[in-house]
Amino acid sequence: MQYSDKVLDHFMNPRNMGEIEDATTSGTVGNPVCGDIMKMDLKIVDNIIVDAKFKTFGCGSAIATSSMATEMIIGLTTDEALDVTNKAVAEALDGLPPVKMHCSVLAEQAVKKALESYYIREGLMTPERAKKFAILGQCEHEENYEHCGCSDE
Ligand code: FES
Repeated sequence: MQYSDKVLDHFMNPRNMGEIEDATTSGTVGNPVCGDIMKMDLKIVDNIIVDAKFKTFGCGSAIATSSMATEMIIGLTTDEALDVTNKAVAEALDGLPPVKMHCSVLAEQAVKKALESYYIREGLMTPERAKKFAILGQCEHEENYEHCGCSDE
């Protein structure tokens, strides 16, 4: 299996690993494909993600994608962060082996879960935003494979 230099770098030197003590919101998700889990903490000020940290019980690809995902979403508005897909994160890492694409779903869903809680708690959930959370809790290949990449396996 071939990993890019960027994947190896983010795996060996993960950015933003850990927890945020005064996090605004957190999301914990499990990967239905392998059973691994991840927690993502976000600090949000004026609707901007000013900090993000993750902890994962997962493989190297999950660590690398979470590390890259935190770097990509820090500084974005919450709505912009919602549009950062697992595929965009994998591309930023110069790709993942097809059998590891499912690992990149963990980071995206953990961010989404954290933002979903945030929007609901703050009374900011709108029908448009709600659509973006429709896939949470399901990663069945037939329904979501475009999104999750599991079809590549
Ligand atoms: Fe489970 Fe990669 S094998 S996240």
